[in-house]
Amino acid sequence: MTKKWWMESVGYQIYPKSFYDSNNDGIGDLKGIYEKLPYLKKLGIDLIWICPFYDSPMDDNGYDVRNFFEVSKDFGTLEDFKMILKRAQELNIKIILDFVLNHTSDEHPWFIESRSSIDNNKRDYYIWEQGKIKDGKEVPPTNWGSFFGGSAWEKDEITNMYYMKIFSNKMPDLNWSNAEVRNEMIKVGKWWLDLGVDGFRIDAVSHLDRAPFEDSKNGEGIVLDWHKFSNLPRVHEYLKEMNKELFSKYDVLAIGEVGGEAPIDSALSYSGFDQNELSMVFNFDHNWCNNLHEISNYQDLKTDVLRLKSVFNKWQTAFSEKGWLPLNWLNHDQPRLMSHYGDLKFFNESAKMLATALYLMRGTPFIYQGEEIGMTNYPFTNFKEFRDVSSINFYNSLDHLNEQERIWEVKKTSRDNPRTPIQWNDSKYAGFSNVEPWINVNPNYKDINVKSNLENKDSIWHHYKKIIELRKKSIYKELFIYGEYKQTDLINPNIYIYERFNENKKVVVINSFSNETINYNISNYNLKQVLLSNYQDTIIKNKIITLRPYESLVLEVFNHE
Ligand code: GLC
Ligand code: CA
Repeated sequence: MTKKWWMESVGYQIYPKSFYDSNNDGIGDLKGIYEKLPYLKKLGIDLIWICPFYDSPMDDNGYDVRNFFEVSKDFGTLEDFKMILKRAQELNIKIILDFVLNHTSDEHPWFIESRSSIDNNKRDYYIWEQGKIKDGKEVPPTNWGSFFGGSAWEKDEITNMYYMKIFSNKMPDLNWSNAEVRNEMIKVGKWWLDLGVDGFRIDAVSHLDRAPFEDSKNGEGIVLDWHKFSNLPRVHEYLKEMNKELFSKYDVLAIGEVGGEAPIDSALSYSGFDQNELSMVFNFDHNWCNNLHEISNYQDLKTDVLRLKSVFNKWQTAFSEKGWLPLNWLNHDQPRLMSHYGDLKFFNESAKMLATALYLMRGTPFIYQGEEIGMTNYPFTNFKEFRDVSSINFYNSLDHLNEQERIWEVKKTSRDNPRTPIQWNDSKYAGFSNVEPWINVNPNYKDINVKSNLENKDSIWHHYKKIIELRKKSIYKELFIYGEYKQTDLINPNIYIYERFNENKKVVVINSFSNETINYNISNYNLKQVLLSNYQDTIIKNKIITLRPYESLVLEVFNHE
């Protein structure tokens, strides 16, 4: 295995619209990111993934790109971005951008041309099909559903044909089987790499190839059968080409988002060391290990610890020699960590435990903005509070439910949860802006904010900092970054334990997911020292360790071999 800079990095994800508003128009912006770089440096971050800030009509907050080479006026100017790059370089922070390959905005000049007539020379940049006649009525070319609700096809009146769009209507899918499209996208990537960025998080990368346009047999009506456009063979051809023509010419990190239930084999086929495609891929197996979809009240939410442990074990083991993994609890599309896997009654303990449990595994951490202070889901009570296009579409589709049920269904998975403004302090609008932000601030900002976290040495933020320091400390770096991972006591339903070891050192990371005290036998270890804990002291008697609620420990033990 060749060591790479990005294996040793600690990443942080920024969703610009919600991070920090420097000019008080209610929208986070690039200057806001610039101003907060020292904050991230202080935490120990040395890699930042910034979500899209390209010119966009903002149907999906910038994932609908109108111009790949321009910065959205909402977010600032290209000069602002260059300032970020320069300052980040001085601070030894790498920057990666979100690279949206699957689609553009319907306002992108390519699409405007493409839709204008069937013989336009950009027609084939997108995916156009005739509708079908079914029972005497015209219907879309297939019954496939889109991720954001409704059909995966939208009829365009100009030529009376359908274009494919697996996200929103305003996000037509590019036709990757067209070599011109691929060349254009390589040019986009090159332009940003030449400007000095260190790589990309590649959006929706698993969807670039489509199955033959035949109806899905997996249901009635419109069927969201993502197998029809996820992880199909030609994606690999395209990525090998991107790698050859683009990534391999620079020392970059190219991390793909592979939704659509990419199994391990498939994830390895994207990012295995010998694949020449991507550096690593985000998967979502560990992001939904609870009963969220079965409950009707947050009080009944329960983490499926055994499932979580088995998912970690599977991925860590499969990648141990063949590839590298990102370590992330959430992103801008998922519920907030504390509302998902945390325990609000043992707030600090569980927040710190979750961080220790994840970020000392083998891989590159990606902390999502606000996670380092334990931000939570927003308490939505009214439809008007939602902003996200997919949440709004989902709400509209639930007209068979009463208002309260509708709100509940939408809010529990709403992508607006992780998108409320970062709570910088306890002043009005949480110090995010001086004016009312584009989306409401979570009302708990007086208790949960960056300022109080920085002031209190025992805060969640300081625990995150300690974990990062431990990963980077010269005598442990080899161990935590490149050491092996082994999970033990796989059947324990409350405690997640793993070892990290190499020839010289060994640590055991013990994480209790229980709200009760548990005595645990550690007689198979010969304790050297406690490296990190989320409690003030450690109780070990006769090789029995007393784990209080959500206690989490990193123990260095003697390496017998
Ligand atoms: C990815 C992004 C998501 C976006 C979608 C379409 O899943 O993470 O936020 O809406 O792609 O670009
Ligand atoms: Ca602003």
